Parts: sequence; C-alpha cells; structure tokens
Amino acid sequence: MRTARIAGWGTALPEKVVTNNDLAAVLDTSDEWIRERSGIRERRIGGTTSGLAIEAGQAALDHAGITAKDVDLLVLCTSTPDQQLPATASTVQHELGLECGAFDLNAACSGFVYGLVTAYQFVAGGVDRILLIGSETMSRIIDWDERTTAVLFGDGAGALVLEAVDGEPSLLGWDLGSDGSLRSILDADIGGFMRMEGKEVFRRAVRVMIDSATRTMERAGVTADDIALFVPHQANIRIIESANAKLGFSMERTAVVLDRTGNTSAASIPIALDDAAANGQLKSGDLVLMIGFGAGMTWSSAIVRWSR
Ligand code: ACO
Repeated sequence: MRTARIAGWGTALPEKVVTNNDLAAVLDTSDEWIRERSGIRERRIGGTTSGLAIEAGQAALDHAGITAKDVDLLVLCTSTPDQQLPATASTVQHELGLECGAFDLNAACSGFVYGLVTAYQFVAGGVDRILLIGSETMSRIIDWDERTTAVLFGDGAGALVLEAVDGEPSLLGWDLGSDGSLRSILDADIGGFMRMEGKEVFRRAVRVMIDSATRTMERAGVTADDIALFVPHQANIRIIESANAKLGFSMERTAVVLDRTGNTSAASIPIALDDAAANGQLKSGDLVLMIGFGAGMTWSSAIVRWSR
C-alpha cells in the first residue's frame, strides 16, 4: 500500500532569547508567576515567518538527504504570514529553489497536524515528496504591553519531509475539528493584536485534547499504552498535565519544549518532534500521537508510526 515515511526533519529558532526576568523588567509580571501558571522559562524572538521556514525547511531537506529539486509539494502552516498576498509559501518555495506547488495553511495552533493529515492525503493521491513546515512569528501579533498574552508566545519553525513508500499505513488515525462559534475567545484582526480569554481557552483546550485524542486512538485501534510518545501543542504545561492525567500518558512519554520556546503556534509540534528525536525519545517503529488546539476554535490529532 502507498503510504509515507518521515524522511527528515529540522527546526529554526531565532537567536534572541527573552527570559521571564527580561519581561518582568518591562511588565507587571514575574518569573515565578509565568513559570507556575504556564511552565515557560524563556522564548526566542525575531526573524520573519518566511526566513525561519526557509532555515527549518533546508535543515529538513539536508537531514533527508534530498535537494530542493526532489520536492513535489510545499505546505506551509502559519497564522502569521509575512504579508496578506502572496502566500508566504511562495517566498519559501522561491528562496529554497523548490520547483513545485506551494500554499499556506492556516488552522492557528492546530495547523501543523492539519498540514500533516493533508500531506498524507497528497501522498496517497500520488505525490512523492512533501516538505511540510510550521513557521510562526507570534511576536508580531502580540501587544507587548499586555501581560496576559505577552508572556506566553514565541517565534520559531519546524519542518518534516514526507516521502512516499510502499508498506503498512503509517498514518493510523486522525481527527480534525473546528467550532467557529468559539472564534471570539482567541482572535486577531488583520494588522491587529491577539486577544484571548485565557481561562476559557484553557478549559476548552483540555476538553478538546481529550476528546480528539480519544477519537483518534479509537480510529487507530490503539490505547494510551501503545503510544510511545505524546506530542501535544506546546501552550501551557498545566494544559498538558491535565490532558495527560485524563488520557493516561506519563510526562516521561510526553515531548515538552515550551519551557524554552513558549507557544510557537503551528511550529510547536515539529519543534517538539525534533527535540524528542535529538534526545533519543523517538525511534523507528514508535507510535507518536500529536495533538493540536487553537484559535477557531480548532483541534487536530494524528497517530503516526515513526519510520526513519
Ligand atoms: N503576570 C502576573 N499576573 C498576571 C499575568 C502575568 N503575566 N497575567 C495575568 N495575571 C493576573 C491576572 O490579572 C489575575 O489577577 P487577579 O486575580 O488579581 O484578577 C491573576 O493573575 C490570575 O489570572 P488568571 O487569568 O486567572 O490566571 P490563569 O491561572 O488562568 O493563567 C493563563 C492564565 C496562563 C493565560 C492560562 O489561562 C492559559 O494558559 N490559558 C490558555 C492560553 C492558551 O493556551 N492560548 C493559546 C491557545 S493556542 C492558539 O491558537 C494561539
């Protein structure tokens, strides 16, 4: 059967580190409050969405041992594009020297798993190699005078190369969802800053993570015990711990980078995957459950057999 293997991955983080104490110097907040309420210690700030995507995309191509000419499709997941038009994917396609179709996909913080499921459908439909990138510059839509959001977000990018292979299906189950009646709890106008009802987002995030993960495990015919690594969207350690407690995942089997990156929206899951792979938390044959949630409100989950 035609399916995909994950042939390579890479990340890009801006050089500039902004610690909680840096923020406490200019905002009415503290390192202790931010760590206790979110688990975040520091975040990276800087760059452009296309620039970070190009760096992460090139790293993933190098890791997969392929060149730009080998790529048949670029999917760029972002909610912070460089401009309204053209799509940021066009800049990334040109600068990387890709000779293929390229488009942006926006499902906010759920975007990367939406992109992953989309990429698998393209592979099933005959596309051989896909570069899938999540890239965000959340710092551009943050009001840096607003302590309730300024302390939570960061910039970064992560990328995967998916390559068609013959074998057992490697996308075992997935679930994509949207409830647009909740769009006002987390939004940003074009050219404006992000607004967020933090408590409501928190409450709903835990619920949609549990519901979506449960549906995806049922569809895949697996239980929490079969999952080698849980890779949740990196928004708040307390959201992850609450969902884990209900789902039966231990923190040892959970990828966490938010302490170093903050919430990088559609980039958070590929950055966490890269970090887990570098730490030896992922090996070929492992089942990985990824879960995204975010503005919309959207959610997304997928179980993939890691195969590199
Ligand atoms: N520093 C110090 N105090 C603060 C700060 C801050 N940065 N921010 C808020 N406070 C104060 C509040 O004003 C409040 O004070 P009060 O008690 O005097 O009224 C107190 O701290 C408690 O505030 P809460 O909002 O109740 O704190 P909570 O425990 O809910 O944590 C947080 C807030 C971290 C925002 C949490 O609700 C959260 O993480 N929500 C989810 C956010 C999220 O995941 N967003 C991303 C979604 S993905 C996407 O699509 C972008």
